[in-house]
Amino acid sequence: MTDRSDLKTFRWKGREGPFELFLSDHTFAPSKVSELLAEALELSGGETVIDMGCGSGVLSIVAARLGAGEVHGVDAAPDTVEIATLNAERLGVADRTHFYQGDLFDPLPRDLKADVIIGDVSGIPDPVARVTGWFPSGRGGGPRGSELPIRMLREAPGWLKEGGKLLLPTGTLQDETSILQVAKDLFGRLTKLVERQFPLPAVVAESQEVLALMKERVVELTQRGSRLLWAARVWECTV
Ligand SMILES: C[S@@+](CC[C@H](N)C(=O)[O-])C[C@H]1O[C@@H](n2cnc3c(N)ncnc32)[C@H](O)[C@@H]1O
Repeated sequence: MTDRSDLKTFRWKGREGPFELFLSDHTFAPSKVSELLAEALELSGGETVIDMGCGSGVLSIVAARLGAGEVHGVDAAPDTVEIATLNAERLGVADRTHFYQGDLFDPLPRDLKADVIIGDVSGIPDPVARVTGWFPSGRGGGPRGSELPIRMLREAPGWLKEGGKLLLPTGTLQDETSILQVAKDLFGRLTKLVERQFPLPAVVAESQEVLALMKERVVELTQRGSRLLWAARVWECTV
């Protein structure tokens, strides 16, 4: 490991926390949706898990702590392997976690089959990603926030064991209808596991590009008092 005094620390307070994570300028900082996914993760022990869009490795670490036999995390961010491995080592789960950098399932061993895929790739519209700064790359999941999740969904069934499941986060900040339609066509059964509402950051509501997406009903918000809220949900997709 070269000197990484540039790294920041982040305190994970979700499931299996609290614990500290190291993040670089390229690493996604775990969010409320990461917490929802961690809540929704049910493991009985020994499972093989693919953590797609693993960022800091946070959900891989949670999965390992919950008893997964092996976890394979992938992210497009340039220093994924270094950062996620560092976090897994510090938290004592490096023997069960493997990290890869690249596009979706491309870097994974060809013969890998998972019991569970955590399908958490970027999924908000690019204009929302730009104004919120939530994504270090400045990119979301495509113009409508659905393009990348749909590409991930189309590849996912081939990486699942028989009886396996995909955990899919969706929300009203993206073209959720299109994502759920593709998930239903590919998997057949979708069960909503958790749902939560979050206040919309003011910068999002003020962006002209986001207003255009609201007019098209790609982004759907609800008003509560003076606040605009968006909803996030986690689905279990099974064949
Ligand atoms: C919403 S973040 C989730 C990160 C992590 N699961 C967490 O909870 O903190 C989505 C992640 O998808 C990654 N990503 C974007 N495009 C990708 C691609 N084509 N292949 C793999 N990962 C990608 C981003 O770099 C980002 O870290």
